[in-house]
Amino acid sequence: MKTCVITGASDGIGAEMARQLAARGGVSLVLAARNADRLAAVAAQCERADAPVLAVPTDVALEAQCRALIDAAVARFGRLDALVNNAGISAQALLEQVRAEDLHWYEDLMRVNLWGSVWCTHAALPHLKAARGQLVAVSSLAGLVGVPGRTAYSASKFAMTGFFEALRAELKPAGVAVTIAYPGVVATRIRHHGLNARGEPAGSSGLKEDKAMSVEECARLIIRGMDLRQREVVMTAQGRLGRWLKLIAPGKVEDLALAALKHEVRPY
Ligand SMILES: NC(=O)c1ccc[n+]([C@@H]2O[C@H](COP(=O)([O-])OP(=O)(O)OC[C@H]3O[C@@H](n4cnc5c(N)ncnc54)[C@H](OP(=O)(O)O)[C@@H]3O)[C@@H](O)[C@H]2O)c1
Repeated sequence: MKTCVITGASDGIGAEMARQLAARGGVSLVLAARNADRLAAVAAQCERADAPVLAVPTDVALEAQCRALIDAAVARFGRLDALVNNAGISAQALLEQVRAEDLHWYEDLMRVNLWGSVWCTHAALPHLKAARGQLVAVSSLAGLVGVPGRTAYSASKFAMTGFFEALRAELKPAGVAVTIAYPGVVATRIRHHGLNARGEPAGSSGLKEDKAMSVEECARLIIRGMDLRQREVVMTAQGRLGRWLKLIAPGKVEDLALAALKHEVRPY
């Protein structure tokens, strides 16, 4: 039986991936996030589908906890076939709204979104190579196109893209696949507990969410990408178009990105 570690598995996309993988069977799951109670609840849902599950409360912003997560996975299940780097936090603020004394949260966000992935991936590497397994990075369309109001978040997701693209080439000879997923707007609570200009939970979303993708569909697309060992999963037609439009008409892409912001967070 294969073993899959999922970070950010207490809620949203990571929790839904865990439930879908558990329902399908054939995989032992190692679930990681900070909130032990919510993690235990997701683990219980997976166990009801007869999946072997280990919940490891983990803060991916701390390197030692990332390494302990991978060690715990291998100690329990004896192997590691897939690591899904999904844990992430969001933020919405214009750079000019952020006071100098608050700017440190840009670094905090980078520790979760980028460094958490780097530390987990580094610890997992020998095990993934032994299994000729796979890595998944849950980036964002904001990691393909810079999004106004999201300088910190876009920077962290572009960084993830650079890290995992380079690593994909490094790991090609070892037979380890790297799938980078680029969701658009997905119906989770990420923007509500994402950070505002002061680095506090925003409490509301700064985006128009009426056309958000369901979390079930997003998880299904990422799992399909894993099954096919795809390089990339770019989730919406708008995202695929935006990526190419950026090359030929970057000003148009900026206008569209501004239009996607709610009026109160627009810079005019
Ligand atoms: N939803 C979207 O529209 C969207 C779009 C594009 C990309 N994404 C990306 O998809 C991923 C999942 O997002 P989501 O929408 O499912 O968000 P979510 O519902 O807010 O879930 C985020 C998960 O990450 C965990 N997490 C946050 N900080 C953590 C930390 N320091 N250490 C360990 N776990 C941590 C949270 O658990 P705890 O709080 O218990 O730690 C939770 O399980 C993120 O990387 C996000 O950037 C989401």
